[in-house]
Amino acid sequence: TWTMVNIVEEQIESIREQIGDRGRAICGLSGGVDSAVAAAIVQRAIGDRLTCVYVDHGLMRKGETEQVERDFVAATGVDLKVVDAEKQFLDALAGVTDPEQKRKIIGREFIRVFEAAEAEILGEVDDKVAFLVQGTLYPDVVESGGGAGTSNIKSHHNVGGLPDDLEFELVEPLRTLFKDEVRLVGEQLGLPAEIVWRHPFPGPGLGIRIIGEVTRERLDILREADAIAREELTHAGLDRDIWQFPVVLLADVRSVGVQGDHRTYGHPVVLRPVTSEDAMTADWARVPYDVLERISTRITNEVREVNRVTVDITSKPPGTIEWE
Ligand code: XMP
Repeated sequence: TWTMVNIVEEQIESIREQIGDRGRAICGLSGGVDSAVAAAIVQRAIGDRLTCVYVDHGLMRKGETEQVERDFVAATGVDLKVVDAEKQFLDALAGVTDPEQKRKIIGREFIRVFEAAEAEILGEVDDKVAFLVQGTLYPDVVESGGGAGTSNIKSHHNVGGLPDDLEFELVEPLRTLFKDEVRLVGEQLGLPAEIVWRHPFPGPGLGIRIIGEVTRERLDILREADAIAREELTHAGLDRDIWQFPVVLLADVRSVGVQGDHRTYGHPVVLRPVTSEDAMTADWARVPYDVLERISTRITNEVREVNRVTVDITSKPPGTIEWE
């Protein structure tokens, strides 16, 4: 729409003014809409002086890494560095079952990998300023009391391999926008619909949707079940009615089933579709029975290790949206 065109043009202009020819910019992509739209706007402003970094931690859902690597790059022409860090993350997570411990480890490894990529990108150039692009939205600005300021200067966290006098400055093209406006801008910029309309997805990814230890085998099981649930929700045309639809693998639980004429001893998955305005509270979503039935039938037919599909009918509070 006309307003979105204006927002984009204004932002491109103000980013050109902010950055000028003072240095290069880096943007971490998560696979979500905010970082994607922020990156696309900055790319329009400064072209290949922006480098995007996507850390593949191995905890993404089926197809999501390809959406960034292939579709987002095709739509924007952005310069992208993908770091395949699956092994590093899974090694660090080995044997860990406590949810907060998982979050800490994933957060720590993420910073390590991201900073190493930063050093690699910036280490060679002799700029005095590096710009970090962030997809901060208006509600975050208000919440943190950021007010009407433009860009914060951030003194950096000792990244090895970088010049001592390098300063980091934030670029936040979405500071004045609400989520629904970001999606409209994303459409305006021609970004892939899967990214623009993606449901919120936690940073630790599927790592906190496996109850128990996170392993490659378990991730693969969950990825298949999750992909089926998402596919059927999309086919039913319900994506925009549902806030989030986690699928959770109860990896340490087994139950007896019968598939074909075999007795099986497999794992249950939990479907957790919710409606919500802001994730602070949520209601379990009344997904039509026929859609649930298709999901259940397909998962138990197509994912050998899963022999039981359950639906979580707890609201938040008292339940949280995620299981961990
Ligand atoms: P809960 O489970 O607390 O989740 O009701 C509220 C919202 O936050 C997301 N979530 C996270 N996002 N890192 C994130 O980036 C996390 O560790 C995390 N835990 C929960 C959740 O998906 C929901 O949108």
